[in-house]
This record gives sequence, C-alpha cells and structure tokens, in this order.
Amino acid sequence: MLIWSCGTHARAVLLYRLDSNTIQRAIPKPTMFHAHSFVVHAGFSMGVSPKAKLPKQTYCTIGWGEGESSTHKWQFHKNGRARDTFALRNCKLMVKAEIVGKENRNKSEWDLYTSTPAIRDFIPEVYGYFEQTIGDKLVSFLLVRRVDLIFESMLDNMRKDEVTSTSLHLLCTSVVQVLKTLAQAAFSGIFSHDWQIGNVGFPDAENCKCVIVAWKKISWRL
Ligand SMILES: Nc1ncnc2c1ncn2[C@@H]1O[C@H](COP(=O)(O)OP(=O)(O)O)[C@@H](O)[C@H]1O
Ligand SMILES: [Mg+2]
Repeated sequence: MLIWSCGTHARAVLLYRLDSNTIQRAIPKPTMFHAHSFVVHAGFSMGVSPKAKLPKQTYCTIGWGEGESSTHKWQFHKNGRARDTFALRNCKLMVKAEIVGKENRNKSEWDLYTSTPAIRDFIPEVYGYFEQTIGDKLVSFLLVRRVDLIFESMLDNMRKDEVTSTSLHLLCTSVVQVLKTLAQAAFSGIFSHDWQIGNVGFPDAENCKCVIVAWKKISWRL
C-alpha cells in the first residue's frame, strides 16, 4: 500500500480507495519543462477510446530535447465531452487527445497556457502540445501533469460508504479549498467559467491545493 506523507487531507483521501491509476508513485518528473516531440505508437489492443478512437493500450515516446527521450505505456483513463485522457504508466503524466475538427480544445488550452503565465498557478503543469496524423485523422495531444485525485471521483467513492465525521471533514475541507482557489484566481484576474467537479483536481494528496484540469474556458482580465 502506498504511504503518503501525512496531512489531514491525505489521510482522509486514502480512506476513499483511490483507483490504481491514482496511486502510482511519481517517477522521474520530466527534467525539461517542455517536451520537444511526442509520438503514439501504432497498437490496437483492448479496443479504441470513445472520442479520439485511439488504442486504449499502447506505447508512446516523448522527446525531451538534447537526445533524451522516454517511452511509456499508454492506458486509456477517462473521456470528457470531446477528449480522451490517457495515463502514462509509472509516471505522473497524462495525455489529453482530441480529433482536430472545428474545435481544438487542446490547442485553446495550450495557447492560454503559453500566452497567460498567470493561469499556471491554477492548472496542472503543461509539458507540450503536439499533433499527429493517425489513420485519416489529425489528432492533437496535450501533455500535462496527472493529478492525484479528481473531485468528482472522490465524491463518487464517498457515495459508496456511509457518511462519517472523517468524510464530512474531507468534503468541507475540499469545498473550502476550491472556493479559496477560485477567489485567489479571481483576485489575479482569472475567471474559470467551467469549474464543475469533473474539472477540479487535487494534484498532491498530501496537500489540499486544487487546480482546474480543463481550462479552455478560463478568461483573464486585469
Ligand atoms: N491532469 C489531469 N489529471 C487527472 N485527470 C484528468 C486530468 N485532466 C483531465 N482529467 C480527467 O479527464 C476528464 C476529461 O478531461 P477534460 O479535459 O475535461 O476533457 P473535455 O474537455 O473533453 O471534457 C476530466 O473530467 C478528468 O476526470
Ligand atoms: Mg471536461
């Protein structure tokens, strides 16, 4: 069992049976801030993902510059409205994939990330934006840090158990943290127009910091 360094939030979170993807230990955090290249390997085991129609399991290779690269097992994690997310096994990376059409949420998020440094305190770390033609489709990829826990998953797990003082404490602490974060963001001129529970993530179980994992609708006014 994974033992996290403690904090009330961490202890409480542990009680809610994080899924196996969530509890993978962080391994080499990329040494470079940005990836230089990203390639998904061909592979069709275990079916295809619902939105981007990519293999649910395969491998991908990330180039980090200066000849360094890393190859990762790629595992379908979850889909949102338009994108599929894939966890890269044995590391804290997540890839969001989307077929490029009229909309390209990955590109919108990348453009916001690069043009507006002020949002970086409120979103997961972003390592790069890439495109690859796969079959007859152009697919965009956003490489981001995988957060330990999405608020929605935590609530889903809570619903399976009876309410206890610990679960209530966790719930209240988390809600307060989300509100504090939104207030801090607003104070910096950042407004998230899409902060429902599926978009709120807690990057590290050991502290209660939260981030918005999908920020295409963030606007910035100062
Ligand atoms: N950095 C991340 N770490 C962990 N899970 C994530 C991360 N980003 C997204 N997710 C999960 O993937 C789901 C879909 O991603 P999202 O960016 O919301 O796609 P869409 O814009 O298509 O709705 C989210 O609801 C969340 O559960
Ligand atoms: Mg979403």
